[in-house]
Amino acid sequence: MPNITYIHPDGSREVLDVPVGTSVMRAAILNSVDGIVAECGGEMMCATCHVYVEEAQMPLTPPQSDDEKAMLEFTASERKPNSRLSCQLAVTPEMDGLVVYLPESQV
Ligand code: FES
Repeated sequence: MPNITYIHPDGSREVLDVPVGTSVMRAAILNSVDGIVAECGGEMMCATCHVYVEEAQMPLTPPQSDDEKAMLEFTASERKPNSRLSCQLAVTPEMDGLVVYLPESQV
């Protein structure tokens, strides 16, 4: 099972084994990872599942849809080139070892 590392703003990290097909957001919610709120439950209507993907690993992630790009305008923390909505990151085998950084704030 691919493992995904979530790094908190204070530098602490949590590593989860995530089934293929489960989103980075859903895995965080199911495992009570602080820092992912996901108010809309993955409907791309809240931007409270914002993460920063390790830049070198951006090519491992699926392309952004226009809807995701639009919703990223509403993140509480600064939007950066490696910003993604974690509900849109369905885990693939190639994403094993992916590192995501949690923003300071989601709301
Ligand atoms: S959970 Fe709401 S946009 Fe991702």
